[in-house]
Amino acid sequence: MLRDIPLPYPPQKTGPILGHTVHNNYMSASPCKKYILLLLACVLTFLTACGEKEESHRKLIMVTNATFPPYEFYQGSEIVGIDADMVREIASRNNLELIIEDMAFDSVIAAVQTGKADVAASGITVTEDRKKQIDFTSSYVKADQVIIVREGSDITGADALKGRRIGVQHGTTGDTYVTTNIGEPERFQDGALAVASLATGKIDAVVLDSAPAQEHVARNAGLLILPTSLASEEYAMAIRKNRPELLLLFNKTLMEMQLDGTMAAITAKYQGKDKTETATQTSGFKTWLAHSFEINFVKDSRWKYLLNGFLVTIEISFCAVLMGLGIGFLVAVIRSTHDQTGRHKVLNILCHLYLTVVRGTPVVVQLLIIYFVIFAAVDVSKVLVAIVAFGVNSGAYVAEIIRSGIMAVDRGQMEAGRSLGLSYGATMRSVILPQAFKNVLPALGNEFIVLLKETSVCGYIALQDLTKGGDIIRSQTYDAFLPLIAVALIYLIVVVCLSQLLKKLETRLKKNER
Ligand code: ARG
Repeated sequence: MLRDIPLPYPPQKTGPILGHTVHNNYMSASPCKKYILLLLACVLTFLTACGEKEESHRKLIMVTNATFPPYEFYQGSEIVGIDADMVREIASRNNLELIIEDMAFDSVIAAVQTGKADVAASGITVTEDRKKQIDFTSSYVKADQVIIVREGSDITGADALKGRRIGVQHGTTGDTYVTTNIGEPERFQDGALAVASLATGKIDAVVLDSAPAQEHVARNAGLLILPTSLASEEYAMAIRKNRPELLLLFNKTLMEMQLDGTMAAITAKYQGKDKTETATQTSGFKTWLAHSFEINFVKDSRWKYLLNGFLVTIEISFCAVLMGLGIGFLVAVIRSTHDQTGRHKVLNILCHLYLTVVRGTPVVVQLLIIYFVIFAAVDVSKVLVAIVAFGVNSGAYVAEIIRSGIMAVDRGQMEAGRSLGLSYGATMRSVILPQAFKNVLPALGNEFIVLLKETSVCGYIALQDLTKGGDIIRSQTYDAFLPLIAVALIYLIVVVCLSQLLKKLETRLKKNER
């Protein structure tokens, strides 16, 4: 990652390079303005020259939320779009190796703010609130918040939105606009899901940025965009505060790209082109299903997203279960030893604290805290972060399950063990714990099943697990139905297999009893 590049000069104030709409030609500046910009670019080039040497062969991590065509979306397994291509160009012009990470939109600014990424390019609107968290580059495009409705809807303007069910993408300016001016919206993980809900009549309107709105409407028959715009906005890229050298590098390159026509070329490349195929409702269920199956899974080997995601899910769940079991056993033994003998007072307090905190907070919040706060400064693998988060979380539940199992073993068993001359530890190991384990096996099995399904929130830290795999397919095909059903089916199959396995283990243990 790019870090600590010496500052050649004070931070550059941000502001739009030029006011443009998505459809404008970026080279439409007057000749005089062009010369001023050219001059500015030269000055910036000169000023950044010394800093640049140090940046060669460095990594540039960009975060985005690739559900936002034409700015960022998947094409095959690659994230493309206006933002992605612009940052690719910026990276290549500055000799930087670009890594693009896809995450929930409401996490991209946090990722930059906490130093997990160098830049967020995600159709981000410049707002005063966001400026407090991060710095913005010069803005490179103008956009509007528009309203999408079903054809024939009685909503014909902004006034008619009051009291209606409005869908937005969570954490966007559309969300903020509706929340402050109209009322509580229905918040979706991405725009495509909101639009799918609108198309199926579950909500009455969607408030979304103009360019993605056009893409969605083009793919969903029976929808239209109202001519009223709710707000005019400008997009810019977000860079961590106190990194003026990087901000300057971006501003300089953006300006160069504007002057030499690269920006216009990138924008033109993504305008009006049909980039994905929709699983349209062709006549007949069978034909539709075959068509939909082909597009969602066969085309471009999209099934690989599910397979790879499945492997990640299994890897995380398996390792987290082992870690949870380890922590759980330890905590349970400490707690029950304390209960029975009064030993390990301090450890018992610590265990109590751990149980209270872990069981009192949602796992997704714990995952985000571990990723963004605890591992903030370390460049650690996300799979490892997930294993730690789910392992620590599961450990708390496993601990209580095992403790209840230990408590359920007749007190006489301990006494019998001790009177045979066994130490407390030896009695625990060879008499109590095996019986306790047998008692709690069904509850433990249940905990593993819960854990496996809980890992579906991994997408929050840009991990491509099974659920995220389905999301990526959805964002490419604009089909909510089949990818979600496929993901659900895979989880279901794994859970059923796991339950059968546990059943077998239980009967085996019972047989041994006799
Ligand atoms: N422009 C809006 C905002 O900044 C929406 C951006 C959504 N971007 C995305 N890649 N999903 O809040």
